[in-house]
Amino acid sequence: MNKIRLGVNIDHVATVRNARGETYPSPLKAAILAEKHGADSITIHLREDRRHINDDDLKSIRSRLKVPLNLEIAATNEMLRIALKHKPPFICIVPEKRKEITTEGGLNLNYKKFFLKNIIKKLKKSNLRVSLFVEPKNSDILEAKNLNADCVEIHTGKFCNLVNLNGNYKNELIKIKKAVNLGNKIGLEVHAGHGLTYKSASILSKVKGISEFNIGHFLIGESIFYGLRDCIKQFKKIIK
Ligand code: PXP
Repeated sequence: MNKIRLGVNIDHVATVRNARGETYPSPLKAAILAEKHGADSITIHLREDRRHINDDDLKSIRSRLKVPLNLEIAATNEMLRIALKHKPPFICIVPEKRKEITTEGGLNLNYKKFFLKNIIKKLKKSNLRVSLFVEPKNSDILEAKNLNADCVEIHTGKFCNLVNLNGNYKNELIKIKKAVNLGNKIGLEVHAGHGLTYKSASILSKVKGISEFNIGHFLIGESIFYGLRDCIKQFKKIIK
């Protein structure tokens, strides 16, 4: 069985740095440390408004990492140009709204479908692995395949919120399981991300067929108290 991978999202290190307009804490340092302590990939989201990760971060992290860099981008010509310039091995296309605090939902795959297909084609032509961030919906999984993506990352936000609030998460879990099964069946690699904590990651680690978890906010937050090393180790233990 293939190993389940942990992608560590370090956007929030840049958020803290930018809050004071300083040069620290350094996202590059976080990326290197996360790699050293077992991250299988590093995720960064270069937003249109550069509110956390900026172009220099992308450049320095891309040139120093040994594990794959997973670059999250919106489907725009600017981001396509940047991705093709730096060629991070993994790309995850995400929806982006200026006013949102974080990525609020999966992509609308029916919006500008031809444009999206063309972006995916160009990224794949450069041998970059392309993932689409989608809701756990069968129609989106089928559409991702139709658009020729390599992977889907299932937005686990709703599920994680219910877990955090001690709500009934069963229906969301069933949706995720169905989406994972369908994705695997039609030859997509299936990932999961957004809002994951030790508890929600532990529940999802029992769903067969998820090959990668991308985790940021909780992991970076816990690292303030326990350090990146221990938090990465803990997540790796949970998802293995
Ligand atoms: N995966 C994707 C595609 C995301 O956009 C995000 C949030 O930036 C994450 C994973 C990580 O989510 P969180 O920071 O809530 O762990």
